[in-house]
Amino acid sequence: MAPRVTICDGCCCGRVEKENHEVPLEYLRDAWKENDLKSQVKLTISGCLGPCKMNNVSLITSGSERIWLGKLNDMEYYEAIVDWAKEIAESSGELIVPEKLAKLQFDPIA
Ligand code: FES
Repeated sequence: MAPRVTICDGCCCGRVEKENHEVPLEYLRDAWKENDLKSQVKLTISGCLGPCKMNNVSLITSGSERIWLGKLNDMEYYEAIVDWAKEIAESSGELIVPEKLAKLQFDPIA
């Protein structure tokens, strides 16, 4: 199964009326197009993924690996996700969390 980046834009993530940060949906869709990523790394914009208190949330999957990222409260993190998706595409799906995003990783079960 192709690696997938799922970006939450649900009831809390991206809801500026709840004082959360906007999710840059257009930037992400354009970046996927410009870098021709969709055949190697899928991009999904989703409703609530569950751990709302970690907003804004993203989930990166490849095979059985699942990496949760939370507190995506700055554009630089979304840019880092795009850069990471490019790396994932080049590395045949291997998930090595980049340094900039490693501090945002969390376990939704904990
Ligand atoms: S709205 Fe994003 S985790 Fe619930």
